[in-house]
Amino acid sequence: MEIAVEASQTPAQLPNVRVAVLGAGKMGGILLQAFLKENLFAAEKIHATVTHAERALALSTQWGVDVSTDNVEAVRQADLVLIGVKPFQVAGLVEEIKPALTPEKTIVSFAASVKTKSIEETAGLEIGVIRAMPNTPSALGAGVAALCRGRYVTDAQMELAQRIFQTVGRTVVVDEKHMDAVTGLSGSGPAYLYIIIEALAEAGVKVGLPRDIATQLAAQTAYGAAKMVLETGYHPALLKDAVTTPAGCTIDGILELEEGGLRVTLIKAVMRATERARQLAAG
Ligand SMILES: NC(=O)c1ccc[n+]([C@@H]2O[C@H](COP(=O)([O-])OP(=O)(O)OC[C@H]3O[C@@H](n4cnc5c(N)ncnc54)[C@H](OP(=O)(O)O)[C@@H]3O)[C@@H](O)[C@H]2O)c1
Repeated sequence: MEIAVEASQTPAQLPNVRVAVLGAGKMGGILLQAFLKENLFAAEKIHATVTHAERALALSTQWGVDVSTDNVEAVRQADLVLIGVKPFQVAGLVEEIKPALTPEKTIVSFAASVKTKSIEETAGLEIGVIRAMPNTPSALGAGVAALCRGRYVTDAQMELAQRIFQTVGRTVVVDEKHMDAVTGLSGSGPAYLYIIIEALAEAGVKVGLPRDIATQLAAQTAYGAAKMVLETGYHPALLKDAVTTPAGCTIDGILELEEGGLRVTLIKAVMRATERARQLAAG
């Protein structure tokens, strides 16, 4: 089978864009550190905020960027405002920064469940609001983020938002109605795959392999299979068929997987998580 490998994309740098990262916690911190590593924005153009003054000081020293507790000041100086607080804190934060918002600024929120419309309405402006759902492998640059646009977003703003999340992995653009499904699939997905890797490693132990070797074999196999799907562009079924020799070992393993209902179980897991995301979004 011939393998066509796509060229990887490096995000272009944006040294003149002034950025506010409101809520530089786990995910905000991951993004901010990726911006610095990739030189996406100039360090002196980044202003991050947190709630605790002592944490602001420590992060400022650690990252070499301006970190404070002053959201209004950070937004006043920014072209781009990233919102990274917990979902229940978003409305209060937008209310707080309202005096510093203008229609020329761009808001990118990665708070789960919070709709672009509610941010637009609280801001009380025709302002571009993009909503994103990243996932935890972003910490290693192997994340995937789905982005959707609010009513007033321009193509240039959407491109800017994609560049932001390309620093921590891939991006896809979806309609906002699909964001709960994204949460159920790629948001929760790492947990499902950790269970699959753990189970495969356990299987390796059952057939006599040392645990550390079994874990490495399982994890690298999952990584390699994912890379094959992404980089060849082939349908996963075609790649599976290429491993499955007639009357060989793999078909016996697949038979067990199908009998155990792995496929249906995974589909149901994503359906349940999507439904839960929908409930959380409704409050
Ligand atoms: N973690 C993930 O994997 C992940 C994935 C997708 C989406 N998200 C979304 O990302 C958001 C943050 O999650 P997280 O896991 O990064 O949480 P987190 O680590 O608790 O970060 C939240 C940060 O917000 C700061 N903060 C709270 N209120 C603030 C305010 N009014 N002004 C300025 N800063 C404020 C906190 O400051 P202090 O540090 O001083 O308390 C903290 O640093 C959530 O909405 C979540 O849905 C997270």
